[in-house]
Amino acid sequence: MTKPQIIAIDGPAASGKSTLGKRLADALGYLFFDTGVMYRAVTWAALKHGVEIADEAGVTALAEQAQIDIRPPSRDDGRACDVLLDGVDITWETRRPEVDGNVSPVSAYPGVRQALTLQQRRIGQRGRVVMVGRDIGTVVLPEADLKIYLDASAEERARRRYQEIVDRGGQADYEQILAGVRGRDKIDSGRAVAPLRPAEDALILDSDRLNADEVFARVEALWQ
Ligand code: DC
Repeated sequence: MTKPQIIAIDGPAASGKSTLGKRLADALGYLFFDTGVMYRAVTWAALKHGVEIADEAGVTALAEQAQIDIRPPSRDDGRACDVLLDGVDITWETRRPEVDGNVSPVSAYPGVRQALTLQQRRIGQRGRVVMVGRDIGTVVLPEADLKIYLDASAEERARRRYQEIVDRGGQADYEQILAGVRGRDKIDSGRAVAPLRPAEDALILDSDRLNADEVFARVEALWQ
């Protein structure tokens, strides 16, 4: 194939989508856009402003009003991009455990998805972009010229999350992380609007069996 202009990468949490996406974007000189951070930013805004996560209308109103900006990284502290909420840098806040624990129900609200999908489409349609999420190939950019679905077992994904936390000097409980991963999978795959599933024309890769270098090489080989 010729070099794709729009690359969509979907798959469950911690399957290696961001690692692959960032590497592809760097190699091609494209924008890397992890759409999960937008759902995380809305979740953080709700927690910060005391809006109940169960309050669908309240959370949806926040998603419609919040000014979320994704910019190239301004600091070399492990971030893939800056996440700004109403002009304030909330990059690391979006990774907090209370966001992890509440983001799936927030992302299941149709009004929240509608507001964020619109912004994502606008950015994606400019081209030269690698967009990562759950519904990019199926809903956000069905016209993408390369769609990848990166899968991995819940156990392997929980092990990676555990390692990430320990490597950053934190403490973690593997069983608790595994239960969280399974819980989020269930909500992400079972929701009525834009559930997690591979697009019919997606290339499916299993990162249990392939390491990050091998996954990258398989994808890059498509146009080299
Ligand atoms: O990839 P992540 O863990 O940062 O995603 C956070 C949540 O947002 C997760 O529950 C799935 C959801 N999400 C989504 O529904 N659609 C997307 N395009 C991206 C993320």
